[in-house]
Amino acid sequence: MHTIEAIGLTHHFSKEIPVLENIEMRVREGSIYGFLGPNGAGKTTTLRLMLGLLRKQGGEISIFGKPFEKHRTELLSNIGSLIESPTVYGHLTATENLTVWQKAYRCPKNRIPEALRLVGLHGTGIKKAHQFSLGMKQRLGIAAALLHQPSLLVLDEPTNGLDPGGIIEIREMLRNLNREEGVTILISSHLLPEIEKLATDVGIIHRGKMLFQGSLASLLLRQHQASRIAIETSDNAAALQLLAGNGLDPRIEAGCINLAAAEKPAIADINRKLVQHGLDVYRIATVEDDLETIFMNLTNQ
Ligand SMILES: Nc1ncnc2c1ncn2[C@@H]1O[C@H](COP(=O)(O)OP(=O)(O)O)[C@@H](O)[C@H]1O
Ligand SMILES: [Mg+2]
Repeated sequence: MHTIEAIGLTHHFSKEIPVLENIEMRVREGSIYGFLGPNGAGKTTTLRLMLGLLRKQGGEISIFGKPFEKHRTELLSNIGSLIESPTVYGHLTATENLTVWQKAYRCPKNRIPEALRLVGLHGTGIKKAHQFSLGMKQRLGIAAALLHQPSLLVLDEPTNGLDPGGIIEIREMLRNLNREEGVTILISSHLLPEIEKLATDVGIIHRGKMLFQGSLASLLLRQHQASRIAIETSDNAAALQLLAGNGLDPRIEAGCINLAAAEKPAIADINRKLVQHGLDVYRIATVEDDLETIFMNLTNQ
């Protein structure tokens, strides 16, 4: 089942320029969906629409299989979210901060220590929140979002501004939440390396359009399919001519001959031909673009 299904989402802030065009998003139950895109791509706008924080202008959103608008209150009671910075009262401890939300949400009091444990803040005792690191404040915000035991957590760039240690802490915490509590997570980021290490599914948005949506594995497969062979010889011009005469489509790039990826026997055959024609082969290697390049290619179109 899809926890979130959005179809044809379109949004304009001003009349001329659409900020979202026909966005389609399907978040599988139990997945960690990484919503990736450069700054200004439309991530926050999409997430705000899904939480009813912006009035929908076009398209359909279903959450837990129900149309969002009709079942808004019921659906929101099962969603935790953190859009932009968390509200943290600096003069209160972690427990006191959560007490404010526990009363507002009317959740049982014993959820406070549970939520603090889930985000790894249970040992902070009498320490006031203004003494917390940015990462701890962020985790406190996530604890507040978890108080009512939601089965969907929506986080908008939760690691923005965190140092590498803080980023790792949030990542591990989210992974545990997903694995141990079965929480479906929709998390946005403009940083591929962050999403790549965490997400099971990926959506890539650019200038208000979805450029890719699928499992992380299918993105990796795409990367594999985009691989090529790089060849370096004692005379690349002669090698180019020879390979072109053999029905291949070689190109010279950065002092190397590039060919489409091939199986091992075909590579051995290429090597043999080059050697038989008196060329010294210095290197034959299969080269894969890294995911970053794939991402850049998608977003540079
Ligand atoms: N309230 C608003 N009024 C006008 N334009 C907005 C508003 N919010 C966002 N935008 C514009 O919409 C585009 C997408 O913004 P946003 O959804 O915040 O992107 P992201 O979260 O991916 O950085 C940007 O060009 C931004 O300037
Ligand atoms: Mg944003």
